[in-house]
Order: sequence, then structure tokens, then C-alpha cells
Amino acid sequence: MQSFQLGEHASTVPITPYNTQEWQKGYRSLNQEYDYWIDEVEGQIPPELSGTLFRNGPGLLDINGQRIQHPFDGDGMVCAIAIKDGRAHFRNRFVRTEGYVAEQKAGRILYRGVFGTQKSGGWLANAFDTKIKNIANTQILYWGGKLLALWEAAEPHRLDPRTLETLGQEYFDGALQPGAPFAAHPWIDPASQFDGGAPCLVNFSIKAGLSFTINIYELDLAGKIVRQHNHPVPGFAFIHDFAITPNYCIFFQNPVAFNPVPFLMGTRSPGECIKFQPDKPTRVIVIPRDAASRPKPIILETQSGFVFHHANAYEQDGEIVMDSICYENLPSVESGADYRETDFNALTPGQLWRFRINLETKAIERQLIEPRCCEFPFIHPALAGRKHRYIYVGAAHTLEGNAPLQAILKVDVESGDRQIWSDAPNGYVGEPVFVPRAASESGLYTKVEGDEDDGWLFTMVYDSEHDRTDVVILDAKDLEKGAIARLHLKHHVPYGLHGSFTPHYFES
Ligand code: CO
Repeated sequence: MQSFQLGEHASTVPITPYNTQEWQKGYRSLNQEYDYWIDEVEGQIPPELSGTLFRNGPGLLDINGQRIQHPFDGDGMVCAIAIKDGRAHFRNRFVRTEGYVAEQKAGRILYRGVFGTQKSGGWLANAFDTKIKNIANTQILYWGGKLLALWEAAEPHRLDPRTLETLGQEYFDGALQPGAPFAAHPWIDPASQFDGGAPCLVNFSIKAGLSFTINIYELDLAGKIVRQHNHPVPGFAFIHDFAITPNYCIFFQNPVAFNPVPFLMGTRSPGECIKFQPDKPTRVIVIPRDAASRPKPIILETQSGFVFHHANAYEQDGEIVMDSICYENLPSVESGADYRETDFNALTPGQLWRFRINLETKAIERQLIEPRCCEFPFIHPALAGRKHRYIYVGAAHTLEGNAPLQAILKVDVESGDRQIWSDAPNGYVGEPVFVPRAASESGLYTKVEGDEDDGWLFTMVYDSEHDRTDVVILDAKDLEKGAIARLHLKHHVPYGLHGSFTPHYFES
């Protein structure tokens, strides 16, 4: 595989491959809920591809014209693209959270958001109102016969996988308390040693306070919480994601300080009270999954940086190898600033780093794998916690600097080779979801069959020229031959967060 050929658009891409006004158009609410067969398809949907792609993200960027301060505060809207026999069906539905229903009825903002959204009425209306809306907007995943919309600060919502109708909040038979957090970044361990080699789902939650507690949850194939343990850790935590190996859960505690006073006083949202501490190290918290025999977390330190997402981790020769997207700095969420006016050049890019964590010597070495601005890493799902060769990630069109994601990059961490597919100047991409060619009988991807990159990549691309979103399918073995299918939706879908693919075909 040879590097950095940009395929069909190469000759037409200007020096600055994006346009901020065009990019901004992807941040508009989609109020309508659709249900249709996708008729406009360029290329061919592979006939052997069968299943459902679920995507989650903020669907509303305003409530009846009142602007939401940050997309992370937008109500969760789930898209389902069901694929079979070379055809695809599209559906989108808002998660009927308590807050969504109440605000739609009232026609105005009723809740404060984590990232800056305030009720109108100034600080007096917001003071001491710490009730935050569960917006269910971050991840969507099918596990144990349940389709779950996740948001890290509160309980999951359960949806009907065929109609996307909201069925209610999910408490896993009472194992989760009402209002209890449940993170939006679970991993499926393809062969859990604690379950006789069966797959299990591993997730966490953070309970914040002056110190914080990490809760680990492990769920069996029936969707039942079968293992749970809690670990108090000193300091303030802003932890969005983690990684697993067969023996450990690994967290990066970013060096941030939190001052809750402006939030309690009603002048700022919690997100605006967080300040990055560049002079402080990042703490790496390693929690043994076998809590009965090894109850204590191992805490180490590494150079400063900010991490939202980890690509994967695995154990090798007494070390944990971990690949993560790191930012040199986390810009503070400025009160009243308009996220649509982002000056990309003023921010540091996310870059892919490899960490080697030695649990014996407590030393951590880090090495830059990919300097190109990138975010939303994805690997073959059967390799969660196991040694991977390929990482797929959303990336900037150009090698240097910070820019919106317009390309999908495939990084071969063994050979150092790269492949890239870029949709600049008009395309703005989301997370690439890797779909292996072969699923196991259980409907999960628990084994690598054939080559690790034998499968497809799905990404949602906002096409600013036609003001609509496309579902793009790439051949993961060869990104540079261009999209093998481009499914044109009839409308745009606001920029999303995370998604997953299940080989179950859900179309009612
Ligand atoms: Co995330």
C-alpha cells in the first residue's frame, strides 16, 4: 500500500481544502424524522453486505430558534441504515428523553447544558440549578438483544432496533441506579477469560466529587451486569473513553482543574469551569479486571496531553501497548463563544500516539505514530484488547496543521504504511466504522477471518456542495480506489459522534 494519493479529487482541491462557512452548514438542526429507501446510490452496495449501521449524535443545534451553545449539548438523534441484498433503508429518530419531550412541548430551552447552554434569564435563572438534561447523544450499540443510546453522565436509553422508538431508560435489572452514569464508550471483549471465552461487554462510569470513583461494569451476552467493582481515585476526572485488555481496564486522567463555583452561581456551564493544566502530568490508571484477587488500581504518570479517544490497547512482554489520539492542549470552552466560528489554525491537532506502559518499572514511553490531524479511531472489533495492525481514523486532508476531518486514513502500525481517501473540498467526514466481512453465528465479530482489513468502512459525509449527507462505503483493503458506494440521503444529518454496525438486519 503506497501513501498519500488522494484519488479522484486530487487535482481540484484548493490549497486550503476546506471552507469554514461551508463546514458550518453541517451544524444545523435536523427537525424532521425520516423513513425511506435510499434510491440514489453511486457505485454498488456490496450484495454480500447485510446488517444495520447505527449512528448517534446531536440532532438539534437549537430549540425552536434558541441556539444551543455547543453541539455536545444537542439532543441525541439516532440514524439507522439497514442494508440487505444491495439495498439500503434510512431512518432517523430523536431519543425521547425526558428533557427532549419537555423542551419540544415548551418550545424553549429548559435545562442547562454541560458545555455552555443556559436557560434564558441570566445567572439568576441558572444559579444552583445543577439539573442537567440526559441527552443520550454519544453512542448507540446493540448488545444483549437491546439497542442502547448512551451518554456518559446518565443512564442509557433503550430503543426499538426496528423503529428506533424510545422504550425507556435501561437499568439492567436494577444493577444501575436511576440517574447513575454509564459511559458512552463500551468495548466488547471478544473472548473474556472470566466467561469461559465467551464475549462480554466492558464499560465504566465516573462518579465525580472532590475525588472521583471509577465503576467498572461487565455484561454477559444476555445483557446482564455480571461483574462490577468501584475504585476511588484522588483528583478531578474528565474521562470520556478507556481501553481494555484481557486483564486490565486503562484510563488516562487528563490534567484538568475544575472550579465548580461559576457553575453553581449560574454564570457558567460545567464545561466552561474546566481548565487544562499543561504543567501537570497525565495520570494513567490501570485497573485489574480480576478485582477479587487484585483489588487495587495501579497509578502511573506520563507527559501532559489531552485525550478523548483511545484506538486500542493490548498486552505484550509485560507491557501494555496503547494507541490514543492526543492533543497538546485542551482549549477552554469560552463563555458565549460560537463553536461555529472555530479558528482551526489556532488549535492544536489531535495526533495518534503509541504509549508503552511498563507495569513493573512504572515507566511509560510514548511515540508519535501519525502527525496528521485525526480523530475518531476505529479497529477491527475482534481485536479489542488484542494486538492490532490497522487503525482507521477520520483525518484532515492536509498532512500539517489542524483542520476539519475530510478524509479517512488507514494506518498500518506494523509497516508504517498509510492509505488515505479524501473527500475535500466539499466533504466533511465522521467516524469510520469498520465492518468485517464475516460475523460469528452469535451476530458478533469475535474472530479475524482472513486478513485483518478484509471488510468495509462506513462513514457519514456532509456534502456541503449539495447540502446533504452521504453514507460512504469504502473497501478497507484499498481506500485509494475511492468509494465503492455513495448513498445520497435526501437531507443533511448534523455532524455525529459514534456508531456501530450489527450484522442483524433491522428494517420494519
Ligand atoms: Co467519544
